[in-house]
Parts: sequence; structure tokens; C-alpha cells
Amino acid sequence: MEIEGSVALITGGASGLGLGAASRLIIGGGSVVLLDIDERGGTSALEELGDRARFLVCDVRNPAMVADAVASAAAEWGKIDVLVNAAGVAPAQRVISRDGEMFDLDLFEFVIRVNLVGMFDVIRHVAAVMARNEGGPDGERGVIVNVASIAAFEGQVGQAAYSASKGGIVGMTLPLARDLAGIGIRVVAIAPGIMDTPLLGGAPPELKDALAGLHVFPRRLGTPSDFAHLVQAIVENPLLNGEVIRLDAGARMPPR
Ligand SMILES: NC(=O)c1ccc[n+]([C@@H]2O[C@H](COP(=O)([O-])OP(=O)(O)OC[C@H]3O[C@@H](n4cnc5c(N)ncnc54)[C@H](O)[C@@H]3O)[C@@H](O)[C@H]2O)c1
Repeated sequence: MEIEGSVALITGGASGLGLGAASRLIIGGGSVVLLDIDERGGTSALEELGDRARFLVCDVRNPAMVADAVASAAAEWGKIDVLVNAAGVAPAQRVISRDGEMFDLDLFEFVIRVNLVGMFDVIRHVAAVMARNEGGPDGERGVIVNVASIAAFEGQVGQAAYSASKGGIVGMTLPLARDLAGIGIRVVAIAPGIMDTPLLGGAPPELKDALAGLHVFPRRLGTPSDFAHLVQAIVENPLLNGEVIRLDAGARMPPR
């Protein structure tokens, strides 16, 4: 699909990888609607992105907010061609802590709710809107890019909930692509390695260096720009479908 003239909806678009993708799609001539819970981040993202960007406050855990936001985005630009699902949370906790405390079940449900159920909810609403698009070459009507993580494959200590959520994203990639093939929608997941975004928190430089060392080559953290580059390739290449692509400089995560 051509990025020029396309409309993208980006969850988690106020920060990090989602914002990086938004910036690249705008530079390529597209328009974007950012969905995020972070109002301040969304507002400053708009200043950065200019007049082909919109921001809507939306908690992907809330079905009414998701339905409203997708409908507003479609009404604003008349269509949605691309969906980038980058909203995500990554709290870590051991199943049994050193003090003998059990993993908090509410926390487990929270992570699954944001990263997996929320993502699926956005997908179903956006797919229904994409179905109304006039088909392009090959009858293509839309492209969906879901952000998983290499933690889906090599979850570390404390990542049971996060890895379960990301494993769910990996698992649904092919069936989503198969379900939506009849409408002409492609579905691809990206499994990033360690990316330098606010999700890493205020990690000190020594820790960032250590994490970067897990990347085989190049030995640096990934960036929102590296991520955006792959989003662009996925949008533009019609044969990428039903696949999970690792974006991790060859990293294979150790247990901790
Ligand atoms: N940074 C990494 O190293 C890394 C590695 C692998 C995967 N990922 C994944 O990439 C995605 C983007 O993360 P990032 O690194 O850009 O982090 P980030 O914290 O910069 O961005 C995540 C965004 O999601 C938003 N968000 C959180 N909960 C939400 C909700 N309920 N509804 C709507 N928006 C919500 C946040 O406000 C934030 O703007 C996440 O899914 C994350 O799991 C990140």
C-alpha cells in the first residue's frame, strides 16, 4: 500500500514506537490519528507531527472508548488504511517474590487486558471500517501491524504476564490474517528487541549499555526510527502477511 495519501490509526501513538511510526507515516505523505491515554504526550506529539495528525484520548481497555475513537477517526479522515497497535504496558513481577508474595492476579489481568484484549478490540473495529475501503492493487483494503515483543519467545524472570500477552499477539497473527484475507487486509506482527523508549523508564546509562550488549549486531538499543522503518516496509510490501518479524539485532534474551 502507498503511504502517500493513506490514513493510519496508531494506538500508543503519544510516545515511543507508536510516535516514531506516526512521524514516518506523516513524512511519507500520510495522515495519522493517535489513540492514547497520555493526554500530555498526545498534545505534544501533535505539535511535533503537524496538521495531518489528530489525537484522541482512548484507553484500549474500554470498549466504549475504542468504538467511539475508531468511529471519530474514520469520520475525520473518511477512511482508515493502516492500523499500528503499539499501546502496551510491561510491569514485571515474579510468580513468587523473594518475600514469598504471589503474583498479583489483578496485575496479570491488567497486562492481558491492555496488551491483548484491548489490541483485539481495536483490530475488530478498525477491520470493519477498512472493509468499506475501495480495494487497491490486489484488492488490498488495509494493513494491520501489531507490536509483540521478543519476550513472546524468550520471556525473562518476572515477565510471565507480559510474555503471555505478547505470546497471544504472536498466536493470533496468522488466524487474523486468514480471517481478514477475504476483505483484503494484511496482518503482520513486529517483535522488537530492546528499544530506547520511555518504556525503559529512567534506566541509568550503565543498564542501557548492558541491555544494548544483548543485541548481537549492531550493539546498540533499537530506536523508534528503526521500528518505523519496518512499519513502512510492511505497509508498502504487499506480500508480507501472517508473519511475526523479529526486530532485535540478533538478540536472544537470557533468563534475567
Ligand atoms: N521499548 C522496548 O524495548 C519494547 C520491546 C518490545 C516490545 N515493545 C512494545 O512496544 C509497544 C510500544 O512501547 P514503547 O516502548 O513505545 O513504550 P511507551 O511507553 O513509550 O509507549 C506505549 C504507549 O502506550 C500507551 N498506553 C499504555 N496503556 C494504554 C491504554 N490502556 N490505552 C491506550 N494507550 C495506552 C502509553 O500511554 C504510551 O504512550 C508496547 O506494546 C511494548 O510492549 C517495546
